[in-house]
Amino acid sequence: MNDIIIRNGRVIDPAGGRDEVCDVTVADGFIASVGKSDGKAAETIDADGLIVSPGLIDIHVHCREPGHEEEETVATASAAAVAGGFTTICAMPNTHPPTDDETAVQYVLQRAARAAKARVLPVGCITKGRRGEELAEMALMLEAGAVGFSDDGDGVGSTNVIYRALQYAGVLGVPIMQHCQDPALAGGDMNSGASAVRLGLSGIASSGEMIMLQRDLELLKRTSAAYHVMHVSTGTSVELIRRARAEGLAVTAEAAPHHLLLTEAACMTYDPNYKVNPPLRSADDVEAVRRGVADGIIDCLATDHAPHAAEEKELEFGLAPFGMISLECALGLYVKALIETGLLDWPGLLARMTVNPARLIDRPLGTLAEGAPADITLIDPDKRWTVKVDDFASLSRNCPYDGWELQARPVATIVGGQVRYRLD
Ligand code: DOR
Repeated sequence: MNDIIIRNGRVIDPAGGRDEVCDVTVADGFIASVGKSDGKAAETIDADGLIVSPGLIDIHVHCREPGHEEEETVATASAAAVAGGFTTICAMPNTHPPTDDETAVQYVLQRAARAAKARVLPVGCITKGRRGEELAEMALMLEAGAVGFSDDGDGVGSTNVIYRALQYAGVLGVPIMQHCQDPALAGGDMNSGASAVRLGLSGIASSGEMIMLQRDLELLKRTSAAYHVMHVSTGTSVELIRRARAEGLAVTAEAAPHHLLLTEAACMTYDPNYKVNPPLRSADDVEAVRRGVADGIIDCLATDHAPHAAEEKELEFGLAPFGMISLECALGLYVKALIETGLLDWPGLLARMTVNPARLIDRPLGTLAEGAPADITLIDPDKRWTVKVDDFASLSRNCPYDGWELQARPVATIVGGQVRYRLD
């Protein structure tokens, strides 16, 4: 007997090119069959009117553990993840201490094994202590279970260090995930330009993103590494990635909900919830990033869920830390930016949230193929709902989307054959 039969849903599996109304059966934690099923199961889920998707994957989440458990933990981030439909999240290494050796990687995995509702896969630091000076023990971290390397929060400024990191990553077959921001141009609060001048805030030039990206793409030509551009925020970056892809370079990229929906104009309120790094840019940049996602130049969607304590985010704009949370409303935000605008259809959106990120981290996830782990997200595409941050499972509240009306919501999240979330 099967454990679960999901009946009559619109099964969309971009990995296998499937989009049809049928049944999905789950046995022993794996997908047993996809198609018409006459079998029996301990539990039957009626998915009439729902989308049945491979479990969503978010490759860019700040879990804050160890070091800032008052903001988020592996357990609470994963609870927020399943409420947002995500079955896998990648934990960023800018923790305290940073995830820069195999023990730290094991620590995150142990916390996940003990308390996580979703799969939590650690990303290790590129450099020791995230100081940008000396390579961290990438091979040992890989062996311990790291799925990629990043100094996220900062770009690696030293050309020598990033070149070596790309060389090693090429040999190891793991992606370098770069926060493209030249440190020399990084100091500032919001996008550089007229709005920053008017608000009396210091600017972060978009050229800082361009300079690091351009440098790294040059170095990439000389290595066999896979290079992933985190939180693309400018139209110039989209064009650089487009050109690099055309030249055959192994470049992937992600966009965050805020760079698809918000502009620097939001900073006019001086609300620190709009302070994020890279900063909110111009309307033209938002349009270009959306088009980059639609074209597939940006092939992954990732939240950059960055929780911060209220007492920190309640400081004035210039003193508050960078970051905003969105795990629990990300799907609706992507739908607003990409489906409601006609730029993508559901299979296109889900490809960027399932099979594409799974390929990047080289895990057999993001698919409903028979024999794959039974990570499944059921989505009501017609559900209209209002974001209420006070209902979030996340420990933090720094979410600029509170009160937004969204369409489409995950109604059940299944991880390894276990129902880990159900919308009441
Ligand atoms: O806004 C951000 N917050 N950008 C980052 O790169 C880091 C993140 C954080 O850790 O808070």
